[in-house]
Amino acid sequence: MNILILGKGYIGNYLNDRLQKVATVDFENRRWFNYTKLNVLDRRFKDKKYDYVINCSGFTGRPNVDQGEDEQELCYELNTFAPLRISSACKLHDINYIHISSGCIYNGYEKQYTEEDEPNFGLFNEESSTYSKSKHAYELGSDHGLTLRVRMPFCDQLHERSILTKLLNYDNLVNYVNSKTYIPDLLDFIELLIKGSYSTKTKSLLNFVNPKPLATDSITEIMKAQGLYNTNWEWVLFEELNTKANRSNCVLSTKKLEKEYGFKLQDEEVAIKKAVVNNMG
Ligand SMILES: NC(=O)c1ccc[n+]([C@@H]2O[C@H](COP(=O)([O-])OP(=O)(O)OC[C@H]3O[C@@H](n4cnc5c(N)ncnc54)[C@H](OP(=O)(O)O)[C@@H]3O)[C@@H](O)[C@H]2O)c1
Repeated sequence: MNILILGKGYIGNYLNDRLQKVATVDFENRRWFNYTKLNVLDRRFKDKKYDYVINCSGFTGRPNVDQGEDEQELCYELNTFAPLRISSACKLHDINYIHISSGCIYNGYEKQYTEEDEPNFGLFNEESSTYSKSKHAYELGSDHGLTLRVRMPFCDQLHERSILTKLLNYDNLVNYVNSKTYIPDLLDFIELLIKGSYSTKTKSLLNFVNPKPLATDSITEIMKAQGLYNTNWEWVLFEELNTKANRSNCVLSTKKLEKEYGFKLQDEEVAIKKAVVNNMG
């Protein structure tokens, strides 16, 4: 089994560590292998036959998605146009494609959003961020591959991209319930797809988040109980944060993941407790 992972970022590194154990993995970053260029991909795919390409690259923003407002062109290039070129190169060479993307394209609590629901915090919504618009635009344009909609990932180590580490470092907290993704569960799922030679050629969207999400205050309680906290924590309203872009706050449905893929994720509370203990270790 030959696998190509694109993007040596937070999720890409975890995925590479996991898949190296079960497959032959080429792990690339843009500097050494410019996967945003169609001719570069085409040459590689002619030279080597891959079973899966997993795209873990994307504009996430530093320190946060507000950067997308300052660099709109780059945000669209990395979240919409480059992934569209990658998915079409995979289609052309008949390769399974998995796109790690975001579920931050909905806002509000009137329902748990399914993959069938039209995003209400995406390309056509004025109040949405450039980041969310660019993620939705990819979904609209792609016609090949499985898109995994991840949200607010967290893991077993302190890492600047993990929501647990972010909470630890923030002084001002806002209290919302939001779907999140425990990275070890994401790795389990992708490993299972690959081991089972599951086809990811047909266009498909999948919410990949843990069920029964918690509000921020429940998470900080779990963190405090384990001695992982910030003494400056203060609750504020989102409006007080003076962000450049609005944020998506929502709960995603996990029914498709359970029914179509038979993959039941652990509840978020269980995963958070596990991760917090491991973060302390
Ligand atoms: N972390 C989160 O909070 C979060 C939440 C939901 C969804 N996601 C999605 O999951 C995917 C992977 O995210 P991640 O957390 O692993 O992200 P990451 O560590 O920030 O970035 C992943 C890779 O994307 C490329 N990249 C990111 N920002 C860039 C920039 N400004 N200029 C050039 N290249 C840039 C880099 O690729 P190279 O290594 O090739 O240079 C980087 O290694 C993304 O599509 C992201 O939107 C992340």
